[in-house]
Amino acid sequence: MIQVLDKSFEVFITKEELSKEIATLGEQISKDYKDGDLVFLSVLNGAFMFTSDLMKNITIDCEVSFVKMSSYSGVESKGKVDELIGLNGDLSGRDIVIVEDIVDSGLTIDKIISLLETSNAASVKVCTLLYKPDAFTGQKRPDYVGFSIPNAFVVGYGLDYDQKGRNLDMIYQVREQKKPNKDMLNIVLFGPPGAGKGTQSERLRDKYGLVHISTGDVFRALDSESELGKLAKSYSDHGNLVPDEITIKILESEVSKHPEAKGVIYDGFPRTTAQAEALDKFLAAKGTEVSMMLSLVVAEDELKTRLIARAEVSGRKDDADPKIIQNRINTYNNSTAPVADFYKSQGKLSQINGVGTIDDISDRLYSAINSAE
Ligand code: IMP
Repeated sequence: MIQVLDKSFEVFITKEELSKEIATLGEQISKDYKDGDLVFLSVLNGAFMFTSDLMKNITIDCEVSFVKMSSYSGVESKGKVDELIGLNGDLSGRDIVIVEDIVDSGLTIDKIISLLETSNAASVKVCTLLYKPDAFTGQKRPDYVGFSIPNAFVVGYGLDYDQKGRNLDMIYQVREQKKPNKDMLNIVLFGPPGAGKGTQSERLRDKYGLVHISTGDVFRALDSESELGKLAKSYSDHGNLVPDEITIKILESEVSKHPEAKGVIYDGFPRTTAQAEALDKFLAAKGTEVSMMLSLVVAEDELKTRLIARAEVSGRKDDADPKIIQNRINTYNNSTAPVADFYKSQGKLSQINGVGTIDDISDRLYSAINSAE
């Protein structure tokens, strides 16, 4: 995904698809005009890149003029008068192929064709890289079309969004801006082991009426004799991450148990960027999305002290052994911390100071949630 000004775009037509299609167009035009007297009129600005690549695939004699539609205020007439600037010479008796980057409503092409009426050209055809049939309301349909595309805004490979993005080497389509779903509050509560995610999740659950899903708790609650239970335990007992495919499956089945939920606190998930991507897809399919990631920030020494103290109460094997604790913190730093960057790039990350009384930390979380709503 890329950003051009205020909009996000995703790849729509790749470089490979473009060059294959443009080669086909070049071959077709070269065949059709082998006995003609061909002049390309490339319409600036958008068609410059397409024209350049198309010309490399034309194997017959031809000329090219780069033209531009311009309108000026006529001296005698009222309103604007259109003209075509940049023509190299006389077009009479010649075969014209107008080269466009995109035909949308078709108005531009109709205007150009009407301006060429007095040129006495032998023929006038239109070659366009992109064509939006659903938007077309014009007279002259294009004769050569690279790609017929849906009526959505595209950018790149010469096409601009407010003059930006022409330099991109493939075509991108605008990404539908999902309306933020105010009805569902999906919070990813993030932080290293011992940051206080479990304690704070319970408070957020009660305050906002959410469902709390801790993948760690779900793993621990799995029947230790079941296949899945044994598998999950073999990873988590040593402070290692349970593989993504297993975690995602379990998470999805947990979420599906609560179709009526007003929102979910994801505690300990996602732990890798692949899991974050899977969660985005899963929620999008349900018509919702992650509302925010709240990341509890606590220094490493403080985490170790807290975990050792917790082991006394919880009896958790992975809290008692300093080597396993270190491994969990290292795993967090290597695999899990990048997940924060994933949400940061979506503008959804809030860093919360995770040191202080439990009440203080809760208050910080509440105000981050309330200010985002
Ligand atoms: P027309 O509607 O066919 O006259 O197209 C007018 C012009 O609008 C094109 O030459 C492009 O410059 C611009 N245009 C139409 N659709 C798009 C798009 O999806 N991306 C970028 N420019 C576009």
